[in-house]
Amino acid sequence: MTVGIREVDAAVTRPLRLDVLRPGHTPDTVPPGDVAGAVHLAAYDDDELVGAVAVHEHAFAPRPAEPAMQFSGMAVAEDRRGSGVGAALLAAVVATAERHGAQVVWCNARSYARGFYERGGFAAIGDEFIIAAAGNLPHFVMWRRIGNQTAVPPRPPG
Ligand SMILES: CC(C)(COP(=O)(O)OP(=O)(O)OC[C@H]1O[C@@H](n2cnc3c(N)ncnc32)[C@H](O)[C@@H]1OP(=O)(O)O)[C@@H](O)C(=O)NCCC(=O)NCCS
Repeated sequence: MTVGIREVDAAVTRPLRLDVLRPGHTPDTVPPGDVAGAVHLAAYDDDELVGAVAVHEHAFAPRPAEPAMQFSGMAVAEDRRGSGVGAALLAAVVATAERHGAQVVWCNARSYARGFYERGGFAAIGDEFIIAAAGNLPHFVMWRRIGNQTAVPPRPPG
């Protein structure tokens, strides 16, 4: 599969973000990633939408002086997981943040996805916490610096 990443309107990826991240959603459910000023990134396999994420300017509390962007709504279609779509989106998040002049990029990561973000050079910081809107799932704040200075070196493949 060849994954292409495109910048799109929020509406394009909203159904995927809702289905993946808010199962059982109702018409008033706010999809993760619907944040004012967010850049919405979509992953395509040819013309099929297979993944989504959104990035917006938001200070990183532990490093308030450094320009930072947060991302949210990371979602890969269930039948496309494990084939590099998430990694391509994560790389696009970092590239987008870098283009916007950020020095830090961060997210509220579901604890079960921690290893995925660590693969991308992110590190957890602080204690685990619950997000009620995300089905009461445990999360960690995860972050990395932009450029070569990762918070932790990515693990080698294998
Ligand atoms: C988490 C998610 C985005 C990962 O996307 P994906 O396309 O399956 O990930 P990739 O195939 O690009 O995997 C990249 C690497 O991370 C690893 N990885 C993927 N998911 C992982 C997980 N949950 N835990 C540990 N490692 C994981 C892969 O094995 C791969 O490792 P490699 O570089 O050694 O091959 C996807 O599973 C998903 O959408 N899950 C449901 C929604 C969700 O949890 N979103 C995140 C909210 S914080």
